[in-house]
Amino acid sequence: MVQATYHFPDGFLWGTATAAHQVEGGNDNNNWSRWEAEPGHILNGDRSGSACDWWRGRWKEDLDRAAETGQNAHRLSIEWSRVQPAPDRWDEDALDHYREIIRGMRARGLTPMVTLHHFTDPLWFYDQGGWEQEAAPALFEQFALRAVEAFKEMVNLWVTVNEPNVYVFSGYMGKDFPPGKSDTNAAFAVMRNLIRGHAAAYRAIKRVQKNSSVGFALNYRSIKPASASPFDHALAKFAHNSFNDSFARTLQTGVLRFSAKRAAIPEALGTQDYLGVNYYTRDLVRFAPLARKDMFVKRAFPPGAELSPNGFIANVPDGLFEALHWASQYNLPIYITENGIEDSTDELRPRYLVEHLHQVWRAVNFTYPVRGYFHWSLVDNFEWERGWSQRFGLWGLDVQTQARIRRRSVDVYAEICRQNAISAEMVQRYAPESFDRLFPDR
Ligand code: NOJ
Repeated sequence: MVQATYHFPDGFLWGTATAAHQVEGGNDNNNWSRWEAEPGHILNGDRSGSACDWWRGRWKEDLDRAAETGQNAHRLSIEWSRVQPAPDRWDEDALDHYREIIRGMRARGLTPMVTLHHFTDPLWFYDQGGWEQEAAPALFEQFALRAVEAFKEMVNLWVTVNEPNVYVFSGYMGKDFPPGKSDTNAAFAVMRNLIRGHAAAYRAIKRVQKNSSVGFALNYRSIKPASASPFDHALAKFAHNSFNDSFARTLQTGVLRFSAKRAAIPEALGTQDYLGVNYYTRDLVRFAPLARKDMFVKRAFPPGAELSPNGFIANVPDGLFEALHWASQYNLPIYITENGIEDSTDELRPRYLVEHLHQVWRAVNFTYPVRGYFHWSLVDNFEWERGWSQRFGLWGLDVQTQARIRRRSVDVYAEICRQNAISAEMVQRYAPESFDRLFPDR
């Protein structure tokens, strides 16, 4: 049997990622709480409810778990509607509460990465037009300023906006997220304002904290043509440019190109210090002239790929390498801000985990400047329009009792974090089916 160890660079960040609305519980003043209350939006009528009960204190036990199992970082988000519950009201108690959590992270040896916008909008902001309104970037900037003022002694790694591409596609083209519109003009306006909001937040953070590192987290979906047909190739390229490339490219060029539209956003130029990549899976796309309602595209997972229990994610690790290769062209540090799989059985997750981390190691060896990896997620949490049907946690959650269930993935990830490496022996023990792929004998 091959014996080898794949080492990661010194100082590599190993963590998990969470988002406020998905773990805190008791959020009732944002667009998602209203969306959940309206029938038909969330699978099985699920509600976020108490979620993982972090706001009332269970963040402590979960962050203990993270620290005790070798992690040295954690990515979490700040709920804007708690900090600014009304346009003219800032809640100092909420800021204090977040200070306590972040202090708790540092006390446990977890470097904080803080996200300012993770899908949810305060109701007052949403009701006056959300990200469609021209004032959105300036309103978001004020919130960013409050946050950086409040946490600057403890945080210098910031994510302005999480997955702006998913926010736009799911809320303004796909109907899964609020406001459930299908309107390409609105989608373009929102994309433009999210970029302006990102740029305004970037500059606000820099004014207060020069040595900060500020970026956004992109959902990078590997998109490949399903066949050799030039139509499929053109479609894959178009989808890649719109979905994966447009936001980061605008920060480099000052010009947004999205779908067939274009807008100059000069203030966005140079407003990213690192690339944040969320990667989950790959799609093959095929031009389908009759599929009008799907915008003439048929998507499928690569044939033969292992699927997660609900068929939501295919295990395609080299898509992560592709994402890191794409990110490396920007010549900035890279963080994998999310990667993971829904798998309540934990049958596939150990394999998914080691195979994806193997690709991260390969990227490091290609000298791509990858600085850290945040697994999604620490504990099962509320999965947006999919409710509680999908379980992404290293730890499972019993939503009724709040009990945590230790999955085997906890142990494999802990060994990797502690050793800052993947060893043949570990893979043999936790994911033997992956062994020959990761450690070929020639
Ligand atoms: C990406 C999103 O940022 C996160 O909120 C979500 O839970 C995961 N994908 C898994 O679906």
